[in-house]
Amino acid sequence: MAERIALFATTTRGTEDLLADELKELGARRIRQDRGGVRFMASLDEALKVCLWSRISMRVLYPLGTFEARGAQGLYDAARGVPWEEHLRPTTTFAVDATLKDSEHSHSGFVALKVKDAIVDRMRDVVGTRPDVDTKNPDVSVVAHLSRDTLSLSLDLCGEPLHRRGYRVRPTVAPLKETLAAAILRAARYTGDEALVDPMCGSGTLLIEAGMMARRRAPGLNRDFAVERWPELGTRAKELLADMRADARRDERKVEVPLWGFDKDPEALDAAQRNVRAARLSEEITLVEGDATKLPPLPASSGLILTNPPYGDRIGTGGQKGMKSFYYKLGESLRVPGWRVWVLSGNPAFESAFHARPSARRDLMNGPIDCTLLGYRPSGGGGEDSEAPLRASHEPVDVAAVRPQHEGEEDR
Ligand SMILES: C[S@@+](CC[C@H](N)C(=O)[O-])C[C@H]1O[C@@H](n2cnc3c(N)ncnc32)[C@H](O)[C@@H]1O
Repeated sequence: MAERIALFATTTRGTEDLLADELKELGARRIRQDRGGVRFMASLDEALKVCLWSRISMRVLYPLGTFEARGAQGLYDAARGVPWEEHLRPTTTFAVDATLKDSEHSHSGFVALKVKDAIVDRMRDVVGTRPDVDTKNPDVSVVAHLSRDTLSLSLDLCGEPLHRRGYRVRPTVAPLKETLAAAILRAARYTGDEALVDPMCGSGTLLIEAGMMARRRAPGLNRDFAVERWPELGTRAKELLADMRADARRDERKVEVPLWGFDKDPEALDAAQRNVRAARLSEEITLVEGDATKLPPLPASSGLILTNPPYGDRIGTGGQKGMKSFYYKLGESLRVPGWRVWVLSGNPAFESAFHARPSARRDLMNGPIDCTLLGYRPSGGGGEDSEAPLRASHEPVDVAAVRPQHEGEEDR
């Protein structure tokens, strides 16, 4: 890898600016937002820092080139023109992952196959033998993206996508992707120095991501990266990452702020408890069975309420009308003096039913669902949100007073 190379980090649509900000903090240069990702320049150690520390990136790609590719033969020829011998050895395993957009081909698997054939044939011609394919755990992951007739080929520095942090041992209905949860926390300007409550926490993704931020824990600390097995760079990457991981472990800090989650569904809460335990954040995160429309007193005089309420008719209260009345009740319950409120909603009826004026808004995709992230200033201090309903009962309380159900309690 040259001194500084061009890389592309992918992210959820609508969060590119947040990723650009994060990459800047991590030392990336010449940052340019693009659709679904951010281009930047980085040296090897800067690139590895991004792999280890980026909370928002889904993949970090090393683009090899963009080619015009029509028909099956066009795909094959384009891929065969790439000097794969610079990136693979006969003993290196590899796999091709393909995605399509507005393409003449209907199966991504077909595109992956053509690229794979081209790699194998080129290696056989140039090096004399071919490397093996390993679709489960390849040393080198080739990413092919075909948009109409344009084929982009890249190598993935990470291998397994970065949202797989390893703590999701028990998913629930509609969990947020870990990287999207981290992007939402950044959008809400959460830094880990403020109390946080998710009153509809589901499997706990927002709380766990907040907990990792509060601990200053590197999100990639407990995984390895494909680049550590690349023929040219693997040994150096391993050494650099070993030092970075040791520094990251040493620099973790104690969490000084309360992080609380509620959910009314015991199964969701059980999943959250297991995930929190897997993330080694049981001491930091408190989970309580409870109804978000009847919040108990919160654990501080100010903080961030951040949540992702149900979008559809899963709460069994009678269609869209039921959802509106649920959102109305949330508007009454969540507007707690001193607390900022941020909500990711996938239901267009949310905003008016919540009956408060947002001070921030952004559109983003949660998987295939168009969502809006809305931010509300703390109520009770006058200003544009003062018309929002307030409740008088939210005095700061001692954590023990609401008898939180800590992780593992059910096992005793
Ligand atoms: C979209 S999911 C949240 C997903 C979560 N962000 C995650 O990553 O797993 C909505 C959650 O709201 C919970 N919920 C619905 N109505 C509730 C209420 N009145 N009080 C508390 N939780 C509620 C559901 O049980 C569900 O777990």
